[in-house]
Amino acid sequence: MRFETERPTSWQACLTCGNELTETDPHSRCPVCGGLLEIHHRPPDLTRDELIGRFTERRGREPTAPPSGVWRFREIVLPGARQIVSHPEGNTPLLASAAVRRWAGAPDLWLKHEGHNPTGSFKDRGRTVGVTQARRVRARAVACASTGNTAAALAAYAALAGLPALVLVPKGQVALGKLAQALAYGARTLLVRGNFDDCLELADQASERLGVYLLNSVNPFRLEGQKTIVLELLQQLGWEPPDWIVVPAGNLGNTAAFGKALVEARAWGLIDRVPRLAAVQAEGAAPFAQSFREGFAQRRRVEPHTVATAIKIGNPASYERAVHAIRDTNGVVTTVSDDEILEAKAVVDGAGIGCEPASAAAPAGARRLIRENVIRPRDRVVAVLTGHVLKDPETVTRYHQELEPRPARANRPIEIAARLAEVERVMGS
Ligand code: F0G
Repeated sequence: MRFETERPTSWQACLTCGNELTETDPHSRCPVCGGLLEIHHRPPDLTRDELIGRFTERRGREPTAPPSGVWRFREIVLPGARQIVSHPEGNTPLLASAAVRRWAGAPDLWLKHEGHNPTGSFKDRGRTVGVTQARRVRARAVACASTGNTAAALAAYAALAGLPALVLVPKGQVALGKLAQALAYGARTLLVRGNFDDCLELADQASERLGVYLLNSVNPFRLEGQKTIVLELLQQLGWEPPDWIVVPAGNLGNTAAFGKALVEARAWGLIDRVPRLAAVQAEGAAPFAQSFREGFAQRRRVEPHTVATAIKIGNPASYERAVHAIRDTNGVVTTVSDDEILEAKAVVDGAGIGCEPASAAAPAGARRLIRENVIRPRDRVVAVLTGHVLKDPETVTRYHQELEPRPARANRPIEIAARLAEVERVMGS
């Protein structure tokens, strides 16, 4: 179908065949060709200054303003939404750290810390929109596959909405904090003997068979929420775009959402130039980086390995969307090793900021791109820290207690007998 004459405020369109659907059509993929769907919004009848004025007014200061850092941008997220399911989320800080800047060789590096969201990751921004949409289409239950954070956020927002949630995660490959959250918030949690890519396929099939609403990153409404990471950081910078935005890349939902946000922000007159995107993958889970090096001639799949379990993904779902995002922003895709990830994490953690391993791929990638002269040292760079340090306590304690070899930044705990002399001995040594 196509909306030939009067366009509605929002609608969905297939990225592959152009088929158009209403905004409340519950299909998670194009019913004609199986392609990925994308949301479109008609720009409101407002000038740039009027629109920015609305965003500023709603910044959560006055008691009647919606305090969410997602719904503040509702015109460009989901203008038709009512009965919003919100924690609230967003309003995350843009941090400057002298220690991290020195280490990265980037004097104008900023850290957008999405770990400050209610369940500790950027996924909450997608969830508030996805679960609100699930209610709009009268879903009976919601489901997702996840490396952990998506599951934690879905569990929380489904519980807020009073909807049953089903989550499928790879057994033994989910960080402890995330698994704990999924259980605590009451999701039916399936530990799948397989990897994330197996979970994704299974969730796809199960949602169809069981008639539950699929809220993976194939779902385009989640990405509308994740766009607000970019909108919020632009607002924090006074709508003066940075030169680069650096983001960890796994299933490629964020990469896709960021590209879409930037293109729309430019088209709606919010910014006058588009920053370049840098998507960073772990070396052992880098199918997108491989495709990038080949000029996106073909889609790649790999058997993924990395300490950063959140981005341990071999066949990313939002591939096509992310290719658009990189092309539209003159972006790049790079890789970092697990050692680089752990070092970056130790630097960010040691600066008192803290993040989970996958998040550390962003500053690690920024540092590498500066060393390779892709990013110039004077460029303004925003690296997105996607998740909270407490998400993956096991990786932290393992790193700091590792002996062979002992990591350069290890902070080993010291066991002592319960005697003052022992404390003195240790502190004196
Ligand atoms: N960082 C964190 C902390 C994540 O949890 C994820 C993805 C990413 C980065 C990568 O973002 O997939 O949009 O490219 N986590 C998903 C999940 C896959 O299931 O929680 P992406």
